[in-house]
Amino acid sequence: LSSEEEKKQFLESYDSSYFIKKLDEELEPYYQLQKSLMKQYLENHLNDFIHSLPYRCWNENAVVDFCARDLLELSKDTTFERDLYAFIGRQVEDETKHFLMLSRIYEKHTGNVVRPRDVKPFKAQEEVFAQLFMGGEAIKRAIARFASEGGAYYSALVTVEATRGKSGLLDEISRAYETITRDEFFHKKLGEFGLEKFARSGDHNEEIRSQVFEYAGKQFKMYLQIYGYNKDAVDVWNSCYGDKIRIGDLV
Ligand SMILES: [Fe+2]
Ligand SMILES: [Fe+2]
Repeated sequence: LSSEEEKKQFLESYDSSYFIKKLDEELEPYYQLQKSLMKQYLENHLNDFIHSLPYRCWNENAVVDFCARDLLELSKDTTFERDLYAFIGRQVEDETKHFLMLSRIYEKHTGNVVRPRDVKPFKAQEEVFAQLFMGGEAIKRAIARFASEGGAYYSALVTVEATRGKSGLLDEISRAYETITRDEFFHKKLGEFGLEKFARSGDHNEEIRSQVFEYAGKQFKMYLQIYGYNKDAVDVWNSCYGDKIRIGDLV
């Protein structure tokens, strides 16, 4: 089977457990916030979007690095799961492709090459990824994949909607994000699939649950730093999740 056929088969056959479904439902307001944050940014700053691309490239590269860490550890794991291993390999392929597509667009329109080491990330970007690069944190990475790929999916979806049918640079962005949207949906499902492994016994579920919201909060903060502070979005976040993790006034 080709990579695309394998993904399709997985998406058609996988159904997440009740615990995961419930968690995903609880993240729904966060997904809506991601959409509205991105929508507002694109409505007001569509022509500045290109300047955010190096930060997006930096994220794509950071995800590649943490997936690589997963692959290294999974192959030594006593509970080695072949499908998970292969699918994370597919994710690596996707994220390197995202990096390539976005950095090519950036280079074509600015003349500058994006190299991850030359990008100075926002503080929240470093906070999101720092602990994921460390060894022995497979559960943290499973939580992060679950909590972040859904947000990435919704913001990619909105990007396609805002740039579709336009010309030049925006058309290129639209086409790149069409591919990214499709891939992020697969990563979101992969996040659910990977987290099942740790939720199966039920012993860690409260811990998983609270870390999912904590991680989604960090992710949301990262988007606020890349796309600009949005008071309405922060207020909505705090009213939905403030009892779990509060986003401060000065992000
Ligand atoms: Fe990506
Ligand atoms: Fe992804």
